Amino acid sequence: MLEVDNLGKRYGDVLALEDLTVRVEGGKCLVLLGRNGAGKTTALRCMAGVLLPTAGTVKVDGIDAADDPAAVRARVGLMPEVPGLYERMSARDYLDYFGAIYDIEPGLRKRRISELLELFELADAGDRWLGTFSKGMRQKVALIRATLHRPRLVLADEPTSAQLSEERRLRARDLHSQHGGGGAPCRRHRNHVGRPRARGWQHGRASSPLRFEKA
Ligand SMILES: Nc1ncnc2c1ncn2[C@@H]1O[C@H](COP(=O)(O)OP(=O)(O)O)[C@@H](O)[C@H]1O
Ligand SMILES: [Mg+2]
Repeated sequence: MLEVDNLGKRYGDVLALEDLTVRVEGGKCLVLLGRNGAGKTTALRCMAGVLLPTAGTVKVDGIDAADDPAAVRARVGLMPEVPGLYERMSARDYLDYFGAIYDIEPGLRKRRISELLELFELADAGDRWLGTFSKGMRQKVALIRATLHRPRLVLADEPTSAQLSEERRLRARDLHSQHGGGGAPCRRHRNHVGRPRARGWQHGRASSPLRFEKA
């Protein structure tokens, strides 16, 4: 489903990412580990088709992100590390707005938004302005936004850094089953949700082939 070959990104003089090759099949969860500045966010943004790499290729379902970034973006849900939420919108209205952008039919998106707010224990806060939300609540809204259009692939950058450990475990499991057990390379720190089996990155380079674990 996701094929990344020799991916590299340079920002001027800074080599952020070098020679990353990974494959993720449907239903698998890939965890990227690496120290600060290792290039994880850069790699995720390239995989989501929102950042152009300077080397290598990204393909989602066989579609090359360089040839058709819009088609790749339609298949991918990206949860950024810093969710840019509109402070003066309620969570429900905000999600509805993005649901419309994703072209989800109004009745269906209303239903999906209610289900997901319930799943993330945000149903009671759904009509409050996002500006009043805590960091963990904002993360959850960003994750809901990223999964609303039922993307084939979910990429989440630091998805649970503001959440309690028990919450992280439950959310990862629930989200995975919401996607029919299909899904998602997700990204999390070493001590989030069990013990990832992926190897670490150093200095923007995969220090060894990344391995996959089933969520
Ligand atoms: N827009 C940018 N311009 C210049 N350098 C950047 C930019 N974004 C990231 N970098 C640099 O690229 C490297 C990798 O960053 P990043 O992908 O954010 O790493 P990580 O997510 O693993 O912490 C770092 O050295 C960072 O300073
Ligand atoms: Mg990062």
